[in-house]
Amino acid sequence: MADSIVRELTGPAASRVDGRLKVMGQALYGTDFLPDEPLFAFLRTSSIAKGKITALDEAEARAIPGVVEILTYKNVGDRIKPGKTFSDKGYMGTSIAPLHSDEIFHDGQIVALVVAESFEVARDAAHRLKITYAEQEPAGSFDEAGLSQKPAHKDTKPAQEEGDDPKVGDFAGAFADAPVKIDQMYATPTQHHNPLELFGSTASWRDNKLTIWESSQNVWGFKNGLAEQLGIDASDVHVISPYVGGAFGSRGSLSQYTAIVALASKLVNRPVKLVATRDQAFTIVTYRAETRHRVQLGASRNGKLTALRHEGWEITSRPDDYSVAGTDSSTRLYACDNIDSKVWIHNADRNTPGFMRSPPEIPYIFALESAMDELAYALDMDPVALRLINDTMKEPIKGLPYTSRNLKGCFEAASDAFGWSKRTPEPGSMRDGDWLIGWGTATSLYPTNVAPCAVRVRLSPDGSARVQTATHEIGTGVRTAIAITAAEDLGLTIDKITVEVGDTDLPPAPVAGGSNSTASVCSAVANACGQIRQKIADASVGADNSPFKGRDAGSLRLRDGRLVAADGGASEALQDAAMRVSPGVIEVYVDHLPDGVKPEGARGLYKGQSALTGGTKLEDRIQFAFGAQFVEVRVHARTGEIRAPRAVGAYSFGRIVSAKTAKSQLMGGQIWGISAALHEATELDRRTAKYYNDDLAEYLIPVNADVPVIETIMIPERDDKVPLGIKGVGELGNVGLNAAVANAVFHATGVRIRELPIRIEKVLGSLPQT
Ligand code: MOS
Repeated sequence: MADSIVRELTGPAASRVDGRLKVMGQALYGTDFLPDEPLFAFLRTSSIAKGKITALDEAEARAIPGVVEILTYKNVGDRIKPGKTFSDKGYMGTSIAPLHSDEIFHDGQIVALVVAESFEVARDAAHRLKITYAEQEPAGSFDEAGLSQKPAHKDTKPAQEEGDDPKVGDFAGAFADAPVKIDQMYATPTQHHNPLELFGSTASWRDNKLTIWESSQNVWGFKNGLAEQLGIDASDVHVISPYVGGAFGSRGSLSQYTAIVALASKLVNRPVKLVATRDQAFTIVTYRAETRHRVQLGASRNGKLTALRHEGWEITSRPDDYSVAGTDSSTRLYACDNIDSKVWIHNADRNTPGFMRSPPEIPYIFALESAMDELAYALDMDPVALRLINDTMKEPIKGLPYTSRNLKGCFEAASDAFGWSKRTPEPGSMRDGDWLIGWGTATSLYPTNVAPCAVRVRLSPDGSARVQTATHEIGTGVRTAIAITAAEDLGLTIDKITVEVGDTDLPPAPVAGGSNSTASVCSAVANACGQIRQKIADASVGADNSPFKGRDAGSLRLRDGRLVAADGGASEALQDAAMRVSPGVIEVYVDHLPDGVKPEGARGLYKGQSALTGGTKLEDRIQFAFGAQFVEVRVHARTGEIRAPRAVGAYSFGRIVSAKTAKSQLMGGQIWGISAALHEATELDRRTAKYYNDDLAEYLIPVNADVPVIETIMIPERDDKVPLGIKGVGELGNVGLNAAVANAVFHATGVRIRELPIRIEKVLGSLPQT
């Protein structure tokens, strides 16, 4: 019976089950919680990027009425232990221990937390702390003296293991022999995820047990990580995060402030609430660091790739060797026999970078897909045709089969909808008065990840069900996807399903990262619901008073609140059938382990460590979702103003569980892709290694007028090898769109911009005049 569910390739276009609460302002986000008798905290952060604190004068701050406590390295020190970073199998975004010593590793490092009776007093006191520094000259980014460089990967042989630089064949020979070549450098800027909900944490202690209210993409990770930092049992930490006001990776790792707030609350014996400022958000959490790339492509005259090399350079912090190493994806996108890659990291005086939506693919696919467009021009070939002639069902590094790959379908659907056939390829050839029109395209891809997940499902005698799992509603609509899945599996309507998430009192779910949540959580939900169906069917075929007595349990189905025979021969109310199993609720708890995860994966789940598998990590296959990005730009021939009036994308990502929320994810990704190409960059003052546009006035993001028409086409795809046929969709929509924009700008103007963002000053002066 467990496999008796026939799932539609496109699920219902249900509205968000929590939509009403959200628009009514009744959904409580992490920073919305305020326990009784709270104190308020304000952070002070360093004004230098490198050096030491030489003096800390708290007298004036402490003299302000209402100031309760001030935490600095002097009274914290070893009371908070350093944690390991997420990439080092820990939980933290940085390995720098909070308020540990007088040493400053980056601008905006937390140097004090002031606790007071009101926010205003805490803020005032924080500003009146007198901090003196001995400043050393920082090296903040590429090209600075004092930067160290090392390979991101160990150079092991054979170079085909996870964590190696992907390579195959003889790149150098093939590139030398190629009749058509591209060899170019590309660059992407520093970018910050600026979720609407500010960063913060609220802590409260009772009977030595800690409660934390904080928006999180990994509540079980925060629970275990905080316990380690504070030297207490994880069972004494409760993390509550029912709604998250934007995440994008920024809330996947623990930041330094959480343990500081928890310690402060312990010291003053009252709840403490911190909401940090917008500018502090640029340095107290992770971000997307700037990257550089060299892409070399060799092709035959008919457009077949014969050689591909991708070398990447990334910035990280002094103490942490974080890298995104998107060569894992960029070397596997197209058929090619001779591939080489290398990723370097540079340790700079910056805070540690971290996950930001499609962390590896955004920079690396920008470089590759820009180079592919250059190759199309060098070959005098249509850019869509070039991608399709190099399409493959076999990844080139290990020769593994893609579980499914509908790149062709995506390009056909999106180019049709876009009207690509009307494009004239010559740059500057599609002019509308003073506006130069450009049409560009690029491929999108994202690995299909999945992780272990635990879930509890209860079916009640009244025919309603409750699903509990500590997954995360980061805006993706996970409650809706879960409700749709449970409703299908239990033969109930969506409104009969209650979903509880975002709380460590619930069974552990993986980090909401790598677009794994829908596949991971819905697999666990389907597993648990399947067991409930099995119990009901078994009890019904064995019971005297059942219309199904003596039948084959495998022939029974749950449908529309009834237990029915597959041939339609008999039917019984679900409640009556369920009563035979239990007069109360039927409850099933599962630890679901997806294919490819070792049994230790379940233990990791309860430690808040997500054993993500899938993507390029499997031995017998490779799983990715694909898409085709198209965009139109208009560049004003006199002023260089750049607009992107429309974007069309088609995406194929397995079974569409929740049609409405999936489309929202993709559409949001498309908008962000345009934003990443034309607007976003965090600017670093090279003399001081400080950001100077650390606010939403000067860190540019698009407003509605910047994004007029977005068309999002979802192409359902059958894939029996990925869990429940699901491929994650949260990050797919923005990948490649930055390259599509750059390619469109070239088509409009003949100016090739290889460094994002693309702004007026980069095209002005090179524009064709009439
Ligand atoms: Mo996402 S950047 O994988 O949280």
